[in-house]
Amino acid sequence: VNGSSREGPALVADPIAETVDEPIVFLNEVMARYPDAISFAPGAPNAQHLAQVDVIGALQRFQEHVVSVGGRSPEQAQLALLEYGPSRGLVNDVFADALRRDEHLDVDPEGIVITVGAQEALLIALRTLCDQPGDAVAVVDPSFPGIVGAARFLGLPTIPVPEGPLGVDAMAFEDIVLRERRRGLRVRVLYVAPDFNNPTGTRMDLASRRALLDVARRQGTKLLEDNVYGFTADPAVRLPSLAALDAEGTVVGVRSLAKVAAPGLRIGMLVPGPAGGRAEVRHLARRFAAMKTMVTVNTPPVSQAIAAGLILACGGSLAELGNSRSEFYRENLRLLLEALDRHLGDEDGVTWNRPHGGFFVRLFLDIAADQRLLEFSAQKFKVLWTPMSFFSLTGRHSNEIRLSCSYLDPDEIETGVERLAAFLREVTSPKSCGV
Ligand SMILES: Cc1ncc(COP(=O)(O)O)c(C=O)c1O
Repeated sequence: VNGSSREGPALVADPIAETVDEPIVFLNEVMARYPDAISFAPGAPNAQHLAQVDVIGALQRFQEHVVSVGGRSPEQAQLALLEYGPSRGLVNDVFADALRRDEHLDVDPEGIVITVGAQEALLIALRTLCDQPGDAVAVVDPSFPGIVGAARFLGLPTIPVPEGPLGVDAMAFEDIVLRERRRGLRVRVLYVAPDFNNPTGTRMDLASRRALLDVARRQGTKLLEDNVYGFTADPAVRLPSLAALDAEGTVVGVRSLAKVAAPGLRIGMLVPGPAGGRAEVRHLARRFAAMKTMVTVNTPPVSQAIAAGLILACGGSLAELGNSRSEFYRENLRLLLEALDRHLGDEDGVTWNRPHGGFFVRLFLDIAADQRLLEFSAQKFKVLWTPMSFFSLTGRHSNEIRLSCSYLDPDEIETGVERLAAFLREVTSPKSCGV
């Protein structure tokens, strides 16, 4: 178990602080020191997509929507952007509609909370769902550091759950819940990203999703579903989200516009469960909204309006917005995998997975990929990557690295992999004494 008890001084003596903060600071420093390095590190959306965002057009589009559908005057529509506005959000109808179109989710617009990115959604969800001493958060390991950061911020214990080739293994998860219960901890929530997990690129198949839902229901554990990379899947082989498979309210959805639109908008959303469902879902929605008031009052309406305008301009579909970008990411992923095959296919001691979407590829080495090795890679070979240990709660992934294909332009990928291959040949070779 990582983290401290709810009664303890959570922010002072926190054993996972180092795994969250220092690596990210280190990575940023290395990137700043080697500006001419090709970096497979950032999991950020490609800059060319950000350049295409018509901010003013999106704002106008939303204003028109408020006038034509909301029956407000243009002056009232302008005021709505500059007043505090409802804590739950200003654009819930547009978002609920998009969830209905894209994921076939029937959600109550009033139940959704529009948040400051997925990060605030995670924070609100954890604080609401884990409100008793002994409540704990299970986290797929390795995982997105934002969830560990949120748990740490709240002083919640985090329980690592290993990831298999198909994501979380439901039976292994159930064993962990039962084991922790015997130790006096109640696993209230499992954080899970079923579509192309950050950092491993793993995707759960349909049977694994159903099995996980069954276990969560049986054990009374909520599934906190983060689906930020789902849009990168080939439309022909999209799988239903966990939320879409859940009729009862076992899944709390977290969504973000960071990758599909722009991270600087800082727009996410929290979805408590299906509409017309149990009273518990309605109660949860009220608690999420109350918590939102306490954290940031409301999400900046101008940002909400731009996000909603972008969705409206794509026929009310976030997936449609994603479709215009996902092909680019799938192509970059294909180029990355092909370049790895070409340059490292015959290399002993290096293997990798082959995700079908998302931003990330996971490399397995026969040596520890630590900060020292990264520094060497940046300095001598001008190529950057992320040690998998930055994402791990357990220290079990020290021989792995994460490569991200999203931020680079296609022509940089080939050169980047050439450099990476030269670096790996040097350090994984038994003759090596480079580091
Ligand atoms: C798994 C995951 N969730 C969410 C986010 C984005 O969060 P936010 O909307 O707070 O920018 C990221 C960004 O890296 C991520 O990898």
